[in-house]
Amino acid sequence: MGFLGKNYGSGVTAIIMFLMVNSANSIGANWGTQATHPLPPSTVVKLLRDNGIDKVKLFDADARVLNALSGSGIQVMVGIPNDMLATLANSVDAAERWVDRNVSAHISSNSVDIRYVAVGNEPFLSTYNGTFLSTTFPSLQNIQAALIKAGLGNRIKVTIPLNADVYQSSSSQPSTGDFRPDIHDLMVQIISFLSLNGAPFTVNIYPFISLYNDPNFPVDYAFFDGSSSPINDNGRTYTNVFDANYDTLFWALQKNGYGNISIIVGEIGWPTDGDRNANIGYAQRFNQGFMSHLNRGTPMRPGPVDAYLFSLIDEDAKSVQPGNFERHWGIFNYDGTPKYNLSLGSNRGGLVRASNVHYLPRRWCIMSPSASLQDPQVAPSVSYACDRADCTSLGYGTSCGNLDAQGNISYAFNSYYQTNNQLESACRFPNLSVVTTSDPSVGTCRFNIMIQSANQGDGGILLEPIGLLMQMVVSLLTLL
Ligand SMILES: *[C@@H]1O[C@H](CO)[C@@H](O)[C@H](O)[C@H]1NC(C)=O
Ligand SMILES: *[C@@H]1O[C@H](CO)[C@@H](O)[C@H](O)[C@H]1NC(C)=O
Ligand SMILES: *[C@@H]1O[C@H](CO)[C@@H](O)[C@H](O)[C@H]1NC(C)=O
Ligand SMILES: *[C@@H]1O[C@H](CO)[C@@H](O)[C@H](O)[C@H]1NC(C)=O
Ligand SMILES: *[C@@H]1O[C@H](CO)[C@@H](O)[C@H](O)[C@H]1NC(C)=O
Ligand SMILES: *[C@@H]1O[C@H](CO)[C@@H](O)[C@H](O)[C@H]1NC(C)=O
Repeated sequence: MGFLGKNYGSGVTAIIMFLMVNSANSIGANWGTQATHPLPPSTVVKLLRDNGIDKVKLFDADARVLNALSGSGIQVMVGIPNDMLATLANSVDAAERWVDRNVSAHISSNSVDIRYVAVGNEPFLSTYNGTFLSTTFPSLQNIQAALIKAGLGNRIKVTIPLNADVYQSSSSQPSTGDFRPDIHDLMVQIISFLSLNGAPFTVNIYPFISLYNDPNFPVDYAFFDGSSSPINDNGRTYTNVFDANYDTLFWALQKNGYGNISIIVGEIGWPTDGDRNANIGYAQRFNQGFMSHLNRGTPMRPGPVDAYLFSLIDEDAKSVQPGNFERHWGIFNYDGTPKYNLSLGSNRGGLVRASNVHYLPRRWCIMSPSASLQDPQVAPSVSYACDRADCTSLGYGTSCGNLDAQGNISYAFNSYYQTNNQLESACRFPNLSVVTTSDPSVGTCRFNIMIQSANQGDGGILLEPIGLLMQMVVSLLTLL
């Protein structure tokens, strides 16, 4: 999969020069890989380049992904997952090994342009109950020391992508912002360390979540095209929650003596499905609005914002614990087709789709016309399928929210069938299902055909064919 970078040779210089001229406009993207059928890394790298995305943020340091980025001219933030923090906090050796294997190796032999190491991912999120409070800062220190030891201290900066819930304000005015009291001192220690090492503060800001959590949140304040009730903060006017949130961070930093530290917006975006506020229209309005806003900055930090869209491509294997929208953040669908028209720069048109994507045959698994809705096997079959595939496009206000009962059942069956690579045995819900060659999609509701995947065949999350009937028996037994 590393062949791609090697062939680009002559184009790289031209692209780098182009990016330097346009640096004020450039946007990054988050590339997550929690999908049952991820696109091949070389396809994703071409997708990034075709769309002029010149920096990418990863959640780990997968060698296949980094190999594909080799020689691409794309700047990279590699990530350390939270579950590695305990090890890295307690062992300088482990941190040095991590840097050797996952940073140094790719820079020297592979010419991957790594710029940042993200230590943990939102480790202080309130819902983690403090699990990573004692290991995050020591990990940051150990990784920083390892980078210096590897001679990379000037070239690569450490950071910790934090959720915006690490700070708060006592009113809607950003100037009242400060860090959360339970982690205030820890935050100041971390920021002092980042500042000393010339490293940035990274924050993830989610106006969608404001709307999701609070039905009374003023909808237009989530977007960038003006607000009927702007916030006045000592003469500074806020017409959107992004600016207000970012400047709340600015004030928290300023109050604690670090008003000058550089800020990266590690994640920003809007999902397109899985909730009544998650749709194509809102996502396009938000992301295009953010692109227009990118060079303007906020009242307290005017000028270009350094930001990474969340996210590049939908991930159908992400946990839905945050909500059903969690699998639908991509500006691209699972197969690398654009979801909507989005211009990522002043001299660019809409998004360019991924090339050379290989689909499975045009076949779908649906509820058999002769099956009865009253069949007692229906409920356990649907929940079996939805537990193991993806039914997050069903439900109130979603893209498939208007299906009738038969449509719902078909959707669930098809999702399971496609997730399992259209295996014959994955469309054998007892007396209930049948394979069809006519597309059951209706209106906004797409019955997808899965793509052939790099992961196909290596087991992982996919079920063995024989498993279906056996496990259904088990599900039935547990229901009784
Ligand atoms: C390098 O990163 C990968 C992927 O994140 C991880 O699985 C592996 O343990 C890391 N290597 C070391 C030596 O820590
Ligand atoms: C955090 O605590 C809550 C309430 O005690 C619990 O329900 C939840 O499972 C905990 N979460 C984690 C990640 O430990
Ligand atoms: C903040 O940055 C500005 C511009 O780079 C510089 O002039 C100023 O001295 C800095 N202030 C502090 C407190 O570092
Ligand atoms: C998509 O956006 C581009 C750039 O803004 C514009 O030129 C084009 O007409 C748009 N296409 C559609 C179908 O709206
Ligand atoms: C279809 O499924 C959704 C989500 O499970 C449910 O909310 C809806 O009521 C179902 N519709 C019918 C007609 O059964
Ligand atoms: C399928 O239907 C046939 C005839 O209606 C019935 O005899 C059989 O038991 C059913 N099979 C299952 C697995 O429900």
